[in-house]
Amino acid sequence: MTKKWWHDKVAYQIYPKSFCDSNGDGIGDIPGIISKLDYLQDLGVDILWLSPCYRSPLADEGYDISDYYDIDPRFGAMADMEQLIDEAKKRNMYILMDLVVNHCSDEHEWFRKACEDPDGKYGNYFYLRDKKDGELPTNWRSYFGGPVWEDLPGTDKQYLHVFHKKQPDLNWENPELREEVYKNINWWLDKGLGGFRIDAIINIKKALPFRSYEPDRKDGLCNIRTMLKEASGIGQFLGEMRDRTFKNYDAFSVGEVFDEKPEEIPDFIGENGYFSSMFDFNETIFGSSEKGWYDAKPITPDDYKHCCFESQKKIGNIGFLSNIIENHDEPRGVSRYIPEGDCCVRSKKLLAALNFMLRGLPFIYQGQEIGMENVPLSSIDEVDDISTLDEYQVALDAGLTCEEALKVAAKFSRDNARTPMQWSDEANAGFTEGKPWLKVNPNYTSINVKSQMEDPDSVRSFYKELIALRKNPEYKETVVYGALEPYLEDTHNLMAYYRKGDKTLLVIGNYQMEEQAARLPGAYKKVLLNNCPELSEDGFTLRLSGYQVVILEM
Ligand code: GLC
Ligand code: CA
Repeated sequence: MTKKWWHDKVAYQIYPKSFCDSNGDGIGDIPGIISKLDYLQDLGVDILWLSPCYRSPLADEGYDISDYYDIDPRFGAMADMEQLIDEAKKRNMYILMDLVVNHCSDEHEWFRKACEDPDGKYGNYFYLRDKKDGELPTNWRSYFGGPVWEDLPGTDKQYLHVFHKKQPDLNWENPELREEVYKNINWWLDKGLGGFRIDAIINIKKALPFRSYEPDRKDGLCNIRTMLKEASGIGQFLGEMRDRTFKNYDAFSVGEVFDEKPEEIPDFIGENGYFSSMFDFNETIFGSSEKGWYDAKPITPDDYKHCCFESQKKIGNIGFLSNIIENHDEPRGVSRYIPEGDCCVRSKKLLAALNFMLRGLPFIYQGQEIGMENVPLSSIDEVDDISTLDEYQVALDAGLTCEEALKVAAKFSRDNARTPMQWSDEANAGFTEGKPWLKVNPNYTSINVKSQMEDPDSVRSFYKELIALRKNPEYKETVVYGALEPYLEDTHNLMAYYRKGDKTLLVIGNYQMEEQAARLPGAYKKVLLNNCPELSEDGFTLRLSGYQVVILEM
């Protein structure tokens, strides 16, 4: 495998609206991010992915862009963005922006012009169809609920939106549109970005010609993925984008890719793949149901382990996965992957180590490093996220009571990840001096950065050690490139694997509250990391405490 500059890095995702507010308006902003660069450097992360901060009506919190060449004034000015890139460089850090090009905002100039003249140049930037009485062009259901078709204001046409109606899909079949996208990417790379996280990218290729599919719910619509599965030829677009943009800058790109076919993996992330890397969502999609959140099945420690190993086996050394336990679209990982009632400092560290030591590029989502948890939800009126509002309704329509539907919403809401970053135990968790745009998790008095910085046994201190291990010149080669081999794969509630490079490391975690004995394959040389004060052994057998995890050099 050809070595790349980003292979040995650690990435960190920032959700700007909720990270740090510098001017008291209750909304996180770029100057706020700049003020925390030293904090991030101290943690040891080097690549920062910023969720969108372009000009936007924020209907989908910035994933609806009305100007790709501007920063939303709520987040700051272009000069702030330039300063951020600059300040990051001084600290050997790289900034990634979010590339949202499956769709733009209905407030983008292109869309306005398409409304004015649907048969003109900009009409062809979107997917427009003639409006017919009582009949939609196709029966596809959008990700956020309801049909994907909406009337194009002031015309006799309808436009396609696979996400929210304020997010019209861009027509990638149109070469002119593609040129616009490449121009924008290069413009940003010229500003010194390290690269991009690429949003919702598998949606850019639709199955042509459009047709309806078998309905899968009472609404008569079908899941949008039914259509996407039939689409072929996305590689042409992605290969062209790579050649016209990222490749010429040696930029890092990580795709939000779902449903790729195993035989396509080398095309996506192999040598000269479309992207440098792609996220592993195997754990996040586990147990999800076509019917909706209300029908999802919880994930057990054994399921979690199998999901991780399955992805690792699938990728092998074809390329580099990007590993996450959460992001801005998911509930908090510690609330999801640790069985209810067991969430504590020790189990959080176990999850951290098991995930962090997988082969690939670790991404930490803001607050993950201090073990932030899901937020309690007492009423649906507290919810901001459009997808949660839809899923709540889906649950009610399926016959759940309000109380039950609220529980479903609380469990999966994207707001769980979007509550303000917990910096300290001061008012509003030290996030803002004003009124935060979204409720702060009341547990900020006990879970916050300030107290964890001072505590060598905190979750944050443990993350810092994990990062330091990845960077340690002695172990780096193995942690970054070593092959992953499961160990005692079938042992219940035990997750263990080797990393084999120029050294051999063994990661062993007791994924339950009860003690568990685990036999070692032989003697170890050194304990590199342990989330407990001691390691109890009996010959080659480890007696692991509840949620104990150790990293051994064999
Ligand atoms: C991606 C983003 C998500 C957004 C969607 C539409 O899945 O991560 O936040 O809602 O795309 O842009
Ligand atoms: Ca602000």
